[in-house]
Amino acid sequence: MIVGSGHVATLIREIDRYLASLQSAQGVTAVRQSLAPYLDQPAQARPVPENAVVAQHLGTALDALRPSHPALAQAIGAACGELEWISYRLYDPDQIGAAFIAGHAYAELIGPGAAVDAPELALGVFIIAPHILYRDHRHPAPELYAPLTGPHGWRFGVDQPLMVKPAHQPVWNQPMAPHMTKVGPVPFLCIYGWTADVEAPATVIPADDWPALEALRLEV
Ligand SMILES: [Fe+2]
Repeated sequence: MIVGSGHVATLIREIDRYLASLQSAQGVTAVRQSLAPYLDQPAQARPVPENAVVAQHLGTALDALRPSHPALAQAIGAACGELEWISYRLYDPDQIGAAFIAGHAYAELIGPGAAVDAPELALGVFIIAPHILYRDHRHPAPELYAPLTGPHGWRFGVDQPLMVKPAHQPVWNQPMAPHMTKVGPVPFLCIYGWTADVEAPATVIPADDWPALEALRLEV
């Protein structure tokens, strides 16, 4: 039986409203154009047993988001139990590392087989536990990250320096562009959007400084 979820549809509208507030950022227009046809489509609720990362960290992330973006925090919290929170399964576990596997979850709102089924767009909410390193990787899909919490560390190439970005400063990754995220003390909560090649897998890019980056602790 398909159960329509008003909370998920509301969250999609709230995300579009949020993205509109970032209008000048690279990639935002592309994602909003891709999701526009799905704004008023019914969404399927597909709850699964409680995800450990979500149970432990989503509340903290929403507490950080709520003062500046109460409607978005409310919409994520309301939809949370109707979403299928999962781990990304296409990495080699040895390459991406056990800490990342155990320390992240995402829920796809729009995408192939998602709450709103779409063939050429992937839009969802992504959470990573504090201090986790999401190792260098890349994928054919062009990608928007819109972080709702911060600060978090980023680098865009294994030979590039780590830079720290605050919440609400989006990142646009061109197809196959390398990127890495070092989560700060607050759980990393973000909206992600892939606007093409959504079923092509991501791959890890080896680097020899992951132990130091995994031990690193960013300050607030
Ligand atoms: Fe990515």
